[in-house]
Amino acid sequence: MPVLVGQPPPAKSASADDGALVIRKLCKEYQPGVPVLKSIDLEVPGHGVTAVIGPSGTGKSTLIRCINRLVEPTSGQILFRGTDLAALRSSRELRAARRRIGMVFQEYNLVERLTVMENLLCGRLGYVPPWRAWLRLFPEADVAHAFHLLDAVGLGDFATRRADALSGGQRQRVGIARAIMQAPEIILADEPTSSLDPKTSVEIMELLSRLGGERNIPVIVNIHNVELAKRFAQRIVGMAGGEVVYAGPPEGLSDDILRRIYGGQSWLE
Ligand SMILES: Nc1ncnc2c1ncn2[C@@H]1O[C@H](COP(=O)(O)OP(=O)(O)OP(=O)(O)O)[C@@H](O)[C@H]1O
Ligand SMILES: [Mg+2]
Repeated sequence: MPVLVGQPPPAKSASADDGALVIRKLCKEYQPGVPVLKSIDLEVPGHGVTAVIGPSGTGKSTLIRCINRLVEPTSGQILFRGTDLAALRSSRELRAARRRIGMVFQEYNLVERLTVMENLLCGRLGYVPPWRAWLRLFPEADVAHAFHLLDAVGLGDFATRRADALSGGQRQRVGIARAIMQAPEIILADEPTSSLDPKTSVEIMELLSRLGGERNIPVIVNIHNVELAKRFAQRIVGMAGGEVVYAGPPEGLSDDILRRIYGGQSWLE
């Protein structure tokens, strides 16, 4: 069901059954007294694509970054399958939590001078002892899995190619494969298509949707392109001014709601 602002969240307890990810009263202030996220309440189901849309500066990246604690939440809860990610304190706990979360970035964040295969194996760094990683001694099973994944993302012939010799679309495929190498329980993608042409953008969204679906894990994508969001997401979260103003199916995204998200109306005509 669509949820509009102004309505109180449903009165039920937050548990893993309600959604894989349950966010309660999440607030973020980078500067004291200047809220960027204003008490976000959100439930993300355990599978499918959730697209987060909203104008520039509204807090979409901040929301995603709070989930994996690249940004420190000011207050609130981020319950991921029962663990409150916002409450994790020790670096060991944080490392363990981050291992469960695959990140995909707009600018790919590959290690440019390493090969595609080495970049993929970076996805296993959370699992192998540092000395093995230093010596690049990854288990054979990891290497075999990486080759398999490269095939799955259409880069079977690129294992030994350096990352800096790839196109944007190819880089993003590597970024996605690296995230999957982590065996994540959720994927968070922050504008994964913003640097790509329209056709490649569709292919990247298809890939995220397919790989998430095959693994039965939820994918959260921040995205500016509303048409792409509607095409690939089962659920849309519309943010405006640091608040969630819509959470529901793409079909519910009426012009009226788009105006509430983006403001004005001339751009809709
Ligand atoms: N590290 C930071 N320190 C201070 N303010 C920040 C920081 N990061 C983001 N902000 C501010 O927080 C607000 C939300 O930024 P955020 O990057 O989350 O927006 P966004 O919705 O992802 O925007 P875009 O669509 O342009 O990527 C903006 O006003 C931004 O200037
Ligand atoms: Mg952003």
